[in-house]
Amino acid sequence: MVKKNTCIFISGKGSNLKNLILHSRESIFPIKISLVISDNKNANGILYAKKYQIPYIFINTKSKNYENIVLLILKKYKISFICLAGYMKIISNKIIKNYQNKIVNIHPSLLPKFKGLNTFSRMLKNKEKKAGCTVHYVNEKLDSGSTILQKKFFIDQKDDEKILKYKTQKLEYRAFPEAIIKIFRKS
Ligand code: GAR
Repeated sequence: MVKKNTCIFISGKGSNLKNLILHSRESIFPIKISLVISDNKNANGILYAKKYQIPYIFINTKSKNYENIVLLILKKYKISFICLAGYMKIISNKIIKNYQNKIVNIHPSLLPKFKGLNTFSRMLKNKEKKAGCTVHYVNEKLDSGSTILQKKFFIDQKDDEKILKYKTQKLEYRAFPEAIIKIFRKS
């Protein structure tokens, strides 16, 4: 099987990145992580890129023309698939146009509910019964591309934001790899 050359975008902790790296080391997993891009020089996730000897690049999304630079880098590494794993910036339309249906994101809610930030506090405030995560394609609108896969759990009365995040991330570590397998099984 020829693995898809993949770039993972991160901003912070990088636990989903680490999980995807470990999966990608299995021969039957459809992607090879060839590049990590971070918009944050202090992102902990960079440590995983270093540990597993994956090239990594920092980008400054405030600099003019940054999309062109990103597109050139992606071309240089022959990237054909992109995963946003805790990337906290909006990906620009120019990049999306060049990678139509080739960019996926993991989001910590059951979309279309709770797009954007602060998902857990809003869920608690709303007295939601269920929480979970969504892996979806990225389009021009925030957290609105079509869903590939969702995993959910029932919120316990005792759950606070910290516990919701913990439970959600545990599901994310299953959801993201499963979604990637699902995408490439179809194609
Ligand atoms: C993940 O829980 C992901 O769902 C969320 O950020 C976390 C990153 O954790 N993404 C978003 O909120 C995107 N809007 P990680 O850096 O440990 O993978």
